[in-house]
Amino acid sequence: MSTSPTLTSIATAPTPASAYDESATYAAARDRSAVLDALIDEHATEDPARFRMLTGDRPTGPLHIGHYLASLRNRVRLQDKGVETFVVIADYQVITDRDSVGEMGANVQGLVLDYLAAGLDPARTTIFTHSAVPALNQLMLPFLSLVTDAELRRNPTVKDELALSDGRPLSGLLLTYPVHQAADILFCHSRIVPVGRDQLPHLEQTRAIARRFNTRYAAGHSVFPEPEALLSEVPLLLGTDGTKMSKSKGNVINLRDSADETAARIRAARTDSERRITFDPNGRPAVANLLTIAGLFLDEPPESVAERIGDGGAQGLKAVVTEAVNESLAGHRARRADLARDPAYVTSALHEGNARAGEVAERTLATVRAVMGMSY
Ligand code: TRP
Repeated sequence: MSTSPTLTSIATAPTPASAYDESATYAAARDRSAVLDALIDEHATEDPARFRMLTGDRPTGPLHIGHYLASLRNRVRLQDKGVETFVVIADYQVITDRDSVGEMGANVQGLVLDYLAAGLDPARTTIFTHSAVPALNQLMLPFLSLVTDAELRRNPTVKDELALSDGRPLSGLLLTYPVHQAADILFCHSRIVPVGRDQLPHLEQTRAIARRFNTRYAAGHSVFPEPEALLSEVPLLLGTDGTKMSKSKGNVINLRDSADETAARIRAARTDSERRITFDPNGRPAVANLLTIAGLFLDEPPESVAERIGDGGAQGLKAVVTEAVNESLAGHRARRADLARDPAYVTSALHEGNARAGEVAERTLATVRAVMGMSY
């Protein structure tokens, strides 16, 4: 029996979110993403709006080399291919799982510094914060009407974040932030969302919201196109001790760290006492992680970095990694330091982005009000 995709039938369909644990689904997402990458190469300059892209970061602290390798470099690459780029500094997402806003102003300023130093150009890329774009936030209200509490509660990323939040009760914002993230993505009609694997459930939720909005409120017209994930090719990077990167464990190399701080961090990195350096992610995860980091900066497979080090042992490995990180980041760090001396420029880049995002969001909200019969 074929039923029309009513809200209830979609919401109670087998959960697509948990399916992301199955590698077949993830492999399918990767395949789609690879095709998308090829399409961008082919057509971005002739049809930029078709490939409008939005992605973002939570301003919870400084960006580290994992952010740089997995996402920042790629954003700049896409911008330079002619893709219309939006980057949200997701300040309202900071308070999903903690009790205070922390150093919000400084964290936001730090993100903008890293964006600009990495090569995002405020004339071409719209950099903005949630809190400065009221019309974006307002989209969350009609969007909330399109989701059920059951589907929000089974979002695996929300569940993971709740589990990691020190026994805090589930706040209304943590439960519903995937809907707010849908507003980030849909307010500018973005088609491409570069994300890591953990964000795929949110993208699936966003696609459902776009579909349901079009069906329920827009008589089937495509007011919101369904966006696609562009998955990062970069494997999950660990901290210098071979465990998950975490500020409190002191195992992170930040973009703003000096060359000396970086060298000290790598000197203290966990390795082993075998002289021969080999790339063996299962047997020698900490060594493999360092080889992966060096390989990504040098644009070289980790196996070949290992071969070059040969019998150089931990010391040889650390020398290669330190040089790879520091030389690759020297330009970024110098530009960042220059920009930091001109805070007025950094602020004006953000204001310009906020204003541009505000205009786009106002236009989208006007359309939403019109199709919902709410233009009075
Ligand atoms: N949730 C993302 C993260 O934690 C950040 C983010 C906010 C985002 N809004 C977004 C990513 C929209 C992609 C699209 O990293």
